[in-house]
Amino acid sequence: MEYIREMMDFVRQSPTAWHAVANLRGMLENGGFCSLNEGEPWRIVPGGCYYVTRNQSSIIAFRVPKMGFDHFQVVASHSDSPCFKLKPSAHRDANGYAILNVEKYGGMIMQTWFDRPLSIAGRAVVRTGEGLEARLVNLDRDMALIPNLPIHFNRAVNDGVKLNPQVDMLPVYGAAGANYMTLVAEALGVEAEDILGCDLYLVNRDTPRLWGAVGEYIASPRLDDLECAYASVRALLEAKPSDHVDMACVFDNEEVGSATRQGADSSFMTQVMGRIIAALGDGEQALETALARSMMLSADNAHGVHPTHPEKYDEDNRVALNGGVVVKFNAQKYTSDGISQAVFEAICQGAGVPVQRFANRSDIPGGSTLGNIANTHASMIAVDIGLAQLSMHAANESAGVQDLGYMVRAMRAFYETQIDVVGDEIIRIQ
Ligand code: CO
Repeated sequence: MEYIREMMDFVRQSPTAWHAVANLRGMLENGGFCSLNEGEPWRIVPGGCYYVTRNQSSIIAFRVPKMGFDHFQVVASHSDSPCFKLKPSAHRDANGYAILNVEKYGGMIMQTWFDRPLSIAGRAVVRTGEGLEARLVNLDRDMALIPNLPIHFNRAVNDGVKLNPQVDMLPVYGAAGANYMTLVAEALGVEAEDILGCDLYLVNRDTPRLWGAVGEYIASPRLDDLECAYASVRALLEAKPSDHVDMACVFDNEEVGSATRQGADSSFMTQVMGRIIAALGDGEQALETALARSMMLSADNAHGVHPTHPEKYDEDNRVALNGGVVVKFNAQKYTSDGISQAVFEAICQGAGVPVQRFANRSDIPGGSTLGNIANTHASMIAVDIGLAQLSMHAANESAGVQDLGYMVRAMRAFYETQIDVVGDEIIRIQ
């Protein structure tokens, strides 16, 4: 239960990827991890714990062993979630209201964003005495809402209505004449004309809460993928020091394809690994040999079976909320294979963590994730895992309360297990 409470607070305080990374940094600093800057040489010492951010919205934390090491054990997840992004000039007066001109960020279920209090959060670049400074901003109050059309003017609303994001999804944030940039400037304590650039998002204000006959479920915005991001950092903090480099990577921009300078499809993870090897690596071709011996868990939430639409899920490979950690298979997109499955499931078995297996129906394509993308940069044995949830990409998603503890235990056991890839055929785990 303590994990659930801490995770609920973390999600509530993390309306955007920037806030999620700031809060993960806080957890890591409390745990004794030291900050590194990509723009400076790194002095890494054996036994040290470090983290580095890129664009303030992706973060990699790692612990190096006291003695030599020959590989990495990595958990990767993502910091972003589908939402709406404000366009550069987002204010418009219309029909007596002030509305925001927004575009989609990622693929959300748009109908779930109607008629709920929303707010603005993100990052603003402010002019200071010394130049420019990027600052996080969170208005943190109910200030915008996307109104539905009344059913009287939209009789087909319950039969499936096509929504046009350019017209139907623009929120009201006050009466005509309101100015959102003055609100942002006020929140930052600066003058509006000193804000030279911004990345602002419309965010769901709902508070994470437990529900169900005995509170066995949690409903919350952004469970995909803040649940796994939280679990990976919590597990890294709790794991006993090991004889390999333990690493937690939380990447931004998974929901829009990962191809940004801080996404999983960037140089971020490989460069961090290269710098660790440059500081402490031993022997010839140390990065290549380390990668060949490394393993990654690609952690992103999974689809729990829907109560009244079981026909959408494969009959033999469907998963339940509170049923344990999910190992995800998809021959087109996921990294899981027999080897990574065997290693991960053996670790879970040893830790007493229940495991369930998910595969899509063969006639439904399913989603993609970040493991296979990261793996094209730093290729290693990898397995796709996640926690079963309902309503993926809705404004509020639901998951099982027990599963978070299973995930933290599984990830901690993964970090604490010494996985020795002896060759293509033999892997020792102890
Ligand atoms: Co995800």
